[in-house]
Amino acid sequence: MAAAEEKLTKFTEESLVTVPFDVYRYDPAKGGEPRYQRYELRLAPHTPVLTGLLRIRDEIDPTLTLRYSCRSAICGSCAMLVNSKSRLACRTPVGPEVQAHGRIVIDPMRNQPILRDLVVDQQPFWTRYEQMEPHLILDPSKPMPADTPTRMSPAQVERFRDTPRCIACGACYSACPAVEADPGFPGPMALAKLYRFVVDPRDSATQGRLKKIQTSGLWLCLRCHLCTEACPKDVRPSERIRDLKELAVQAQGGTELGSRHAIGFLNNIEERGTLNELKLVRQTAGVGGVLGALPQGLRIWRKKPEITKAPPPIEGIDQVKKIYQALEDKKEGQE
Ligand code: SF4
Ligand code: SF4
Ligand code: FES
Repeated sequence: MAAAEEKLTKFTEESLVTVPFDVYRYDPAKGGEPRYQRYELRLAPHTPVLTGLLRIRDEIDPTLTLRYSCRSAICGSCAMLVNSKSRLACRTPVGPEVQAHGRIVIDPMRNQPILRDLVVDQQPFWTRYEQMEPHLILDPSKPMPADTPTRMSPAQVERFRDTPRCIACGACYSACPAVEADPGFPGPMALAKLYRFVVDPRDSATQGRLKKIQTSGLWLCLRCHLCTEACPKDVRPSERIRDLKELAVQAQGGTELGSRHAIGFLNNIEERGTLNELKLVRQTAGVGGVLGALPQGLRIWRKKPEITKAPPPIEGIDQVKKIYQALEDKKEGQE
């Protein structure tokens, strides 16, 4: 028994790796510039980054400030940048990070003001969430029966199966370039939550929700999918945003720039398999928009004169049309 224990201990000792942590430090109360502080620990490769940071705080530097709670990827508190990617520190093992990067650089989440070290002010994230009215809005003339369960079919539940997995960690918000570029953009998590209520058959505000979101940020999404890549719970917010756009166009047509651009794009590809860029600008912005964009258009035309000519349909356009027809048939079959 003693020999087995000794072997186990030896094996454990040998399997430890040296983990250099470069941790972002900034305390506005003390002034000074933000800096990175180097700490080194010997850890088993499967050790979560959060455990490493807590050991630094408990054994080396009690001033290190970070946010965490469950340590089990449930509460969403420990999101931070690990080697520049938005991650949950409690479910990111140190071994693969050191193997890939030689060290672990820790930064606070992006797109939110830094309060101290790794703690950010999440108010902007929560404000956008609240603006989505993330709760059922019921028609007062049709109150829910108090003593009877409200039933939904499996197909209805399937439509929002992914979104309740969200733990509001903010990793997607931190990764999103549209949030960084435009303060009006609601962010991926807020839009995924909105989607959840838009497709809920009990909600009576679907049309109003879609109308409002069309002019308050929906079309600012860049479709880069960084939010989906960052999400630790596979909520896939970028796919839910795509679904919201589709629902908005189906319900309300091309009511503004974003939806008109999407419809024009779809029609262009169906017609020729490639874009007629001039036509797309006209379909999106109208004649007034084309006139307004004339100076920019002239600059492009000088470099690319063929832009004024409609491109011929691509070889194999018949195949493209068949795909459109198949999609149309599928949609009709679902209705
Ligand atoms: S897909 Fe849209 S919401 Fe997601 S990160 Fe990119 S811009 Fe943001
Ligand atoms: S959608 Fe994913 S990344 Fe965004 S807050 Fe929810 S769990 Fe976190
Ligand atoms: S500490 Fe709760 S999700 Fe990481």
